Amino acid sequence: MICVEYLRCTVLIVLTMNICAQKTKSDTMLNAKNVNGPLQNIQKTQSIKQETSLNSNDKNIMELNAYNSVTLLPNRSVCGLLSDEERIFGGESTDIDEFPWLARIKYVLDSGKEVYACAGSLITQNYVLTAAHCVVNLTIKEVRLGDWNTETETDCQGRVCSDPAVDVSVSQVKIFPEYRKSDTFKGDVALLRLQKPIYYSDFVRPICLPITDDTIRQDNSSKSIYWTAGWGKTENENKANIKQKLAISAVPIGDCRNKQPIITDKTAPFVICAGGVAGKDTCVGDSGGSLVKQMTINKTTNWFLVGVTSYGYRFCGSEGRPGLYARITPLLHWILNNIED
Ligand SMILES: *[C@@H]1O[C@H](CO)[C@@H](O)[C@H](O)[C@H]1NC(C)=O
Ligand SMILES: *[C@@H]1O[C@H](CO)[C@@H](O)[C@H](O)[C@H]1NC(C)=O
Ligand SMILES: *[C@@H]1O[C@H](CO)[C@@H](O)[C@H](O)[C@H]1NC(C)=O
Ligand SMILES: *[C@@H]1O[C@H](CO)[C@@H](O)[C@H](O)[C@H]1NC(C)=O
Repeated sequence: MICVEYLRCTVLIVLTMNICAQKTKSDTMLNAKNVNGPLQNIQKTQSIKQETSLNSNDKNIMELNAYNSVTLLPNRSVCGLLSDEERIFGGESTDIDEFPWLARIKYVLDSGKEVYACAGSLITQNYVLTAAHCVVNLTIKEVRLGDWNTETETDCQGRVCSDPAVDVSVSQVKIFPEYRKSDTFKGDVALLRLQKPIYYSDFVRPICLPITDDTIRQDNSSKSIYWTAGWGKTENENKANIKQKLAISAVPIGDCRNKQPIITDKTAPFVICAGGVAGKDTCVGDSGGSLVKQMTINKTTNWFLVGVTSYGYRFCGSEGRPGLYARITPLLHWILNNIED
């Protein structure tokens, strides 16, 4: 029996401890409103000033660079760095310093129990970007950065040991205002403001955002190879202790819509569709985690955040069903409008 579930179940699992263990093979969305949880720190944000546009035209890019907050973003000698250019990808476990922008989110359940569920990406010293469905009606206790092996206090890979993980509480949650107003996963992103700024190290580093025309244009190439990473670990499962990584291929939106009819004309521009290989797909990674892509610009290669893990099958084995990721480029205006020093 294959339990086919959507990623949003990650949160449901930890909050209800069993819902997802039941077999549900319909395409009915499990709705987070079934989950009781106090609304915490959720600040309704102002409606976006600019209409977000997918057109990666120069006007759009000039507008992006007009935000003062652009200076808060790490530059390309800081963000999305490759720690070792000779590295060979292909293994399942990450090395200790790979995907250092990945954050784990810890929740407090109504019972008082504390559990990790979703992931997020560090984008500045003060902000983690995650999925909206990872914060709506949930109580976040804190965010953990710099984790690799979830079972050990001090993580070591061979002789390389990382600094202890950094736990930081969240002072403010901002949800993309159009999320779920009309369409389920449109703009499934939220910003978590951290209580204190994070200091970067080899093990805690931000991801680059694609705010230049060179990078925006690359975000939806149907030939893209993306990477996703995470622990995919929940209370009920004995999954990875060590951060896992997986390469997935872009799926052209037309093909994707045949397999994921939930995508509409309206939501298509807000989606990156990727994966769908049996036994792989979204088994690796957590809701709210990063979909990243390497881009080389002016001879320098960095990792860029192009999507946030949003919707897909939590339990795998369903060939040909790609995962859906909230696409970052149409949300950049909102992000830049909502981060502060
Ligand atoms: C959050 O909780 C409120 C109050 O219980 C409910 O009205 C709302 O629909 C919930 N939101 C979501 C997205 O489930
Ligand atoms: C990038 O940012 C770092 C840290 O803020 C700064 O030291 C460095 O000079 C910047 N590099 C460039 C090329 O702007
Ligand atoms: C990206 O998406 C836009 C809008 O859907 C489209 O016009 C453009 O051709 C796409 N670019 C690539 C490289 O696929
Ligand atoms: C790449 O280099 C050119 C020429 O120096 C410069 O105009 C452009 O801004 C650079 N692009 C980026 C993304 O740094």
